Amino acid sequence: MTTGDVGRSKWELDTPVLLADLDVVEANIERLARYCRAAGVAWRPHTKGQKVPALAHKELAAGAIGITCAKLGEAEVMAAAGVRDILVANQVVGPAKAARLANLLRHADVIVTVDSLENAEELSTAASRKGQTLRVLVEVNVGMNRAGVQPGEPAVRLSGKVAALPGLRYVGLMGWEGHCAGIADAVEKRRAIETAVGALVETAERCRQAGLAVEIVSCGGTSTFQGDRAHPRRDRDPGGRRHLRRCPLSEPGGRSSSRAHRPQHGDQPAHADPGDRRRGSQGDECRRGASAAEGSGRGHGGHPLR
Ligand SMILES: Cc1ncc(COP(=O)(O)O)c(C=O)c1O
Repeated sequence: MTTGDVGRSKWELDTPVLLADLDVVEANIERLARYCRAAGVAWRPHTKGQKVPALAHKELAAGAIGITCAKLGEAEVMAAAGVRDILVANQVVGPAKAARLANLLRHADVIVTVDSLENAEELSTAASRKGQTLRVLVEVNVGMNRAGVQPGEPAVRLSGKVAALPGLRYVGLMGWEGHCAGIADAVEKRRAIETAVGALVETAERCRQAGLAVEIVSCGGTSTFQGDRAHPRRDRDPGGRRHLRRCPLSEPGGRSSSRAHRPQHGDQPAHADPGDRRRGSQGDECRRGASAAEGSGRGHGGHPLR
């Protein structure tokens, strides 16, 4: 749509065209920002569903610490539009793309995920060649079987190797519990999410025990955040928090799908209490702090605190 289209009937618009109800979009953004603040988790919305820099800027203005992209090309578009903190929640493979990623570091502070040493070495070479440092998360397969190393020892081992590579800065772990999205039964779904996120969080703990600096434990999405909400309050270090990736589009309740599942508890996470809110505000300070906005996750809703 161009500015010349503003004010015209929708029937006159050329297709394909993305139309969103701005009032609903803004209400969703506000709702998610509030939700994450109350839960004390940093919010890094995924932009794959809308790919619109103007919407990403709205999310950042509402408190998102950065954004998530599915691929390098999307990250390049967002960086060109002035977005600084970008997670590419995928593997960027091959020398040509590794060089593009290293070049992008001149314009944005990118994080990428790896799930193999070969890929990490390739990125290390590309970043070093440009005199850059690339932040890296190790992707953990928490059950979706799309990408990632297995939780536990394999992820700890790869993390250690990545942390030792020049040109890279190991910052933690990412998992995506997308296999839980389609589970119809709410109790079963919650259990599946807790199992998946639990594997991620336990792996993060093992990485820390191995002496690795896990600043970020990133998970979550539009279809699973209701199940994630019990986790962050129990698992944060003082001032730290996990990331949530999610993408509010145009459905009240923060869902981008037409079969919206509405939150049952308003904007407060389940079991919210004044203590939770206190911890949340500590997190807010951290968001403005130097190591900015990145969180760490410990334990989760289905696991006892350690
Ligand atoms: C790695 C990853 N994280 C999170 C999400 C969730 O995105 P959304 O919130 O748009 O459903 C996705 C979506 O497929 C994803 O691939």
